[in-house]
Amino acid sequence: MPHTAATTPGTPILRAEGVCKAFESGRQHTQVLDHLSLAIDPGELTLISGPSGCGKSTLLAVLSGLQKVDSGRVYALGSELGQLDLRALENFRLQHTGFVFQGFNLFPALTALEQVELPLTHMGLSRQEARERARHSLEEVGLSHRVKLRPSELSGGEKQRVAIARALAKEPELLFADEPTSALDAANGQTIIDILHTIARTHGTTVLCVSHDPRLVAHADRVLAMEDGRILSDRRPGAGAPKESSP
Ligand SMILES: Nc1ncnc2c1ncn2[C@@H]1O[C@H](COP(=O)(O)OP(=O)(O)OP(=O)(O)O)[C@@H](O)[C@H]1O
Ligand SMILES: [Mg+2]
Repeated sequence: MPHTAATTPGTPILRAEGVCKAFESGRQHTQVLDHLSLAIDPGELTLISGPSGCGKSTLLAVLSGLQKVDSGRVYALGSELGQLDLRALENFRLQHTGFVFQGFNLFPALTALEQVELPLTHMGLSRQEARERARHSLEEVGLSHRVKLRPSELSGGEKQRVAIARALAKEPELLFADEPTSALDAANGQTIIDILHTIARTHGTTVLCVSHDPRLVAHADRVLAMEDGRILSDRRPGAGAPKESSP
């Protein structure tokens, strides 16, 4: 995967051009993404907001190579995802992306440490390297004292922090988070927001976060509002008036 495009200042790390995606179920045709274009700069925390069903999760899925587009193009780290075969796409996701979901997606039988180690060993790290990195990531999210516990023994906020540590330990250029705070109470939600903010700042990770949480806006470099499969507005909190995106 070429890195030159990702590290050149002013070059977007992630770009969608005229992306369309529809779902057919029975006779119903749902146009979820409708000629959507965006460009994301490296190292920024971008918040994607919008009403339920407007296509936010689908957008994350196509930007991360999890789902194919019907038309248009997605470029990530200098590669066009549509040009990659399945194996290359899987490798792209494994090596360069991390995911955090609303429902945590942890394995019930594994300890916090094992959850974080697992993708690292898949990436080809030795057991020792994986263990060291996993411990370090769990420490970064404030869970050094919880590494031996299983999900059933962790609170919701702690589970989400394990999920973030798992994504962070991969040292991905791109971190995708889909409603990471919506299953949490206010205090735990705030902790998760702070951690995502710190990750973008200190690791230079590009964070794309879908959220309805207004507290996240204050921490975001940029807020994209979605509606009807398009970006309706594009603004930078703290940078003056919003910019309406062109159709
Ligand atoms: N695999 C699928 N098959 C059929 N329809 C789908 C599929 N995935 C999503 N959709 C439809 O696409 C639309 C957008 O879904 P998506 O999950 O992207 O919305 P969302 O903005 O994330 O909503 P929410 O805020 O509720 O999570 C919805 O109408 C949904 O029913
Ligand atoms: Mg969703």
